Amino acid sequence: MIGLRRVGSDGFTAQLEPVISIYSAAMRPPADQLSGRKSIMRNHATYPDFTCIFAELTDGTPVGFAYGFHGVPGQWWHDVISRAVAERLGSESSHEWLDDTLELAEIHVHPDHQGKGIGRRMIHALCEGRKERTAVLSTHDQPTAARHLYRNMGFRDLLSQFVFPGGHEHYAIVGRPLPLTPQD
Ligand SMILES: CC(C)(COP(=O)(O)OP(=O)(O)OC[C@H]1O[C@@H](n2cnc3c(N)ncnc32)[C@H](O)[C@@H]1OP(=O)(O)O)[C@@H](O)C(=O)NCCC(=O)NCCS
Repeated sequence: MIGLRRVGSDGFTAQLEPVISIYSAAMRPPADQLSGRKSIMRNHATYPDFTCIFAELTDGTPVGFAYGFHGVPGQWWHDVISRAVAERLGSESSHEWLDDTLELAEIHVHPDHQGKGIGRRMIHALCEGRKERTAVLSTHDQPTAARHLYRNMGFRDLLSQFVFPGGHEHYAIVGRPLPLTPQD
């Protein structure tokens, strides 16, 4: 039985070690990227309306986490994506999608627990009660479980094959209006 628990910035930063360990197991990043990733996550926890959902075993061990926050100008991801959407889809679309948005920054489930609906449940819980007009996120533009799940939950492509400045991998930027419905 997996329970969900909602925490704010302090509750999240207190659990950064298990968070990084789930992230490593799920994403398998090069080990030398982990301390940078930890700093990025710690910084994310300072963003407006930061909320994290933990998925936990009955003994409290976290097996998944998802977090998001209110996107505002001055945040690196928000600025890069607002500009790219304006360039490719026009400034009206960029305003529509990104002026009042929940940015779903990280969603990961430990491989031992994937494919059992935890990811979907965490996204529902994270979006519940949010006041923003839209939810947006980036994910590798490959036929992954993540890509399948988001599409299945009504997220549509705003940008595909997108390369972040200084990067080389291809990402899809996807979004959907809020709120979610129970059918999503
Ligand atoms: C993406 C992730 C968070 C989803 O969590 P989860 O608990 O496994 O997700 P769910 O069980 O709710 O849903 C997974 C869906 O993907 C499908 N799926 C599983 N493996 C798949 C694959 N290789 N290709 C396509 N779809 C796949 C499942 O069938 C399910 O779809 P369904 O609900 O239509 O049956 C999790 O798989 C994960 O941590 N992956 C690695 C890290 C990652 O990519 N994170 C997202 C970064 S944006």
